[in-house]
Amino acid sequence: MKKHNMDFLNGRRQRRLRHTNWVRHLTRENTLTPADLIYPIFLAQGHGVREPVLTMPGVNRLSVDEAVKEAKVAYELGIPMLAFVPNTPVELLSENGDEATNPDNLVCQALRAIKKAVPQIGLMADVAMDPYTTHGHDGVLRDECVLNDETVEILVAQSLNQALAGADVIAPSDMMDGRVGAIRRALDNGGFTQTIIMSYAAKYASCFYGPFRDAVGSKGRLQGDKRTYQMDAANSEEALREVAQDIEEGADIVIVKPGMPYLDIIQRISDNFSIPLVAYQVSGEYAMICMGAEAGIWEREAAMMESLVAFKRAGCSGILTYFALDAARLLTA
Ligand code: PBG
Repeated sequence: MKKHNMDFLNGRRQRRLRHTNWVRHLTRENTLTPADLIYPIFLAQGHGVREPVLTMPGVNRLSVDEAVKEAKVAYELGIPMLAFVPNTPVELLSENGDEATNPDNLVCQALRAIKKAVPQIGLMADVAMDPYTTHGHDGVLRDECVLNDETVEILVAQSLNQALAGADVIAPSDMMDGRVGAIRRALDNGGFTQTIIMSYAAKYASCFYGPFRDAVGSKGRLQGDKRTYQMDAANSEEALREVAQDIEEGADIVIVKPGMPYLDIIQRISDNFSIPLVAYQVSGEYAMICMGAEAGIWEREAAMMESLVAFKRAGCSGILTYFALDAARLLTA
């Protein structure tokens, strides 16, 4: 029997390409830049308000004037787009989320103010009813059932409302069937042919949204769960069908949400479709990394950067992340 021969290994010493900093740089397969990042901002009523979200260390709910300042900072750092999520005052909540179509709601105020102050940055607006409903669901609730087609009608009105206020990207995050097509038709008919639809195509029913529901105040409100419209964590084929349908209906970009527990889904979508793909690193993922750092189990910056480049490796062209400002600062330092 032939003895194990070290010469045999000489041709493939993999560590050669890891030996120095310059060669690691030279052979790096994926890079993260500020242009990959989308920064979600929580909005609150008032003036000069920066209200900490307790379950998301470092994240604040901002009044519109503060959001304008934040938008300038994001733009200076090279972040291409902002997203908005409102914390709606309780007195404005209703059964059918009427505030969603109010042309002067918090999101529309922020869209108008930032479009004026920082016209070069992209503005994305979520479409879903949960920030506006008394029951915390993403649609019209009747006898414990979220009605699909009735909800789509409202989502269409909400989309037009936000496009009119200055949204460049409409992002349906509700998971109703047929909403992408309905929104595309309405936008085109309304003259918004350039408005982009970035659909939450594969959105899972996930416990990782916990801190977000705290941030928008829907936590205690939510009756039951969202498993009749958001996807089952055990499914992967279904994500491909969702993406195929959204592309068919006219989505320009698709989102997978949450991110880190679903990197396999991101990889499969990127392998199977030719469309820009965005991951949403959600509130629970953010909280986990920050609280892990606070507990001393890792360094915040290292965990943040490792988690973000993983999305690029899996095939994303963009990442919605609460770390956007911090990561962009680090990348431009
Ligand atoms: C709902 C919505 C959710 C998030 C964004 N839009 C949560 C939910 O479905 O209850 C979660 C984002 C996050 O956790 O960061 N339209």
